[in-house]
Amino acid sequence: MFSLKDSCLLKLSDLSFLELTYLLRLSCYFKKDKTIVKREKHLYDKKVVLIFEKDSTRTRCSFEVASFDYGANITYLGPFGNQIGHKESIKDSACFLSRIYDAIEYRGHKHKAIKVLAKHSIVPVLNGLTDSFHPTQLLADLLTIKEYYNYYIYSKVRLVYVGDVRNNICSSLLEASLLTGLTIYLLSLRTIWPLKSFICKCQLLSQKAGGNVLLTEDSRVGINSINFIYTDVWVSMGESKRLWKRRVFYIRNYQVNILLLLRTKNINVKFLHCLPAFHDNKTIIGKHIQNTYSFIYGMEVTNEAFYSFYSLVFGQAENRLYTIKSLLVSIVLY
Ligand code: CP
Ligand code: NVA
Repeated sequence: MFSLKDSCLLKLSDLSFLELTYLLRLSCYFKKDKTIVKREKHLYDKKVVLIFEKDSTRTRCSFEVASFDYGANITYLGPFGNQIGHKESIKDSACFLSRIYDAIEYRGHKHKAIKVLAKHSIVPVLNGLTDSFHPTQLLADLLTIKEYYNYYIYSKVRLVYVGDVRNNICSSLLEASLLTGLTIYLLSLRTIWPLKSFICKCQLLSQKAGGNVLLTEDSRVGINSINFIYTDVWVSMGESKRLWKRRVFYIRNYQVNILLLLRTKNINVKFLHCLPAFHDNKTIIGKHIQNTYSFIYGMEVTNEAFYSFYSLVFGQAENRLYTIKSLLVSIVLY
C-alpha cells in the first residue's frame, strides 16, 4: 500500500505509475458520482493557498471549485497585491505560508522557484504550471485518454504532439511517456527539436515502459493510424512577444487542421489542447497575431478542427476539476 499524503507534485515523474493510476481512478470516482461526493466534505476545514504569478482560468477555477465542493477554504494570491518575489523571497514566503495553510498551489515562471518553495514548505506544494512543466494538466490529459479507451494501458496509445516541441506541455507529455509507455511523436521543424541527447534519454526510458518517443518533420510520416493529435500555443506565457515572429516562421506549417486529422487515416482520431487556444480572432491577442501574420483560419489549430467532431478539448478541460480534486484529497488526507 502507498500513500500520497504530504507529497508534493512538482512534475509528473514525481509519481510512480501506481500512484498515477490511483489518482486517475479516484478522479473517475469523483467524476462519476458528482452529487454524492459533493456532499462528503473530504477537505473540511482545510486551507489551501493558490499562488498565481501568471494568468489562469482552468487551473485556478478547478482548484477553487474542488475546494468549494469538498469544504476547504482558499486564498488566491495573484501576480500583484502580495509580497512574494517583490519584497519577500520565495523561501520566506514558503516558511510563512506553510505554517498556516494545509497545501500550496503555485503557478510561476522558473521551475527553480517551485523547487525552493517545496524545499522550505512544511506542507505539500503542487505545480499549477511553470515554464518547464504542467503536471496537473497531464493528469487531466491522461484521464481523457483513459476515458476514450477505457483502460490504463497507455502503451497501446500513439499520440502526436505538434508545434512548439520544447514547451512545458510537451515536456510533461514526454514525462507521461516515460511513466506510462505512451508512444509520442513530436511533429515540428528540426530547428526547434529538443537536444538529441535529451531525446535519446527519453527514448530509452519510454521504451522500457513499453512506449517510444519519435521525431518527425513530415506530417505524412508517422501519423498514420495515430490515436490523438495534441497541440498548444506557439508562444507560452512569460515568453517575450518578440518570439512570435520567429516561432511563426518555424511552426506555421504545423497547424492542426482537418487535413492533418484526415492524414491519420483514423476516423476515430481525437484532438487535444490544454487551452486557451488561438483558433479564431475573437480575442485581443488572437486578433493581433492573425492580422500580423496573415492567418485566416486560426493559428496552432483552425476553428474548424477546434470545434469538430474530433475535438475533445472541453471534456479534457472539465477533467482538470476531477483530477485536481483527487490530487488535493490524496495529498491532504490519505
Ligand atoms: N490549461 C490551463 O492550465 O489553463 P489555464 O491557463 O486557464 O489555467
Ligand atoms: N504552454 C502554455 C500552456 C498554458 C496552459 C503556456 O505556458 O502558456
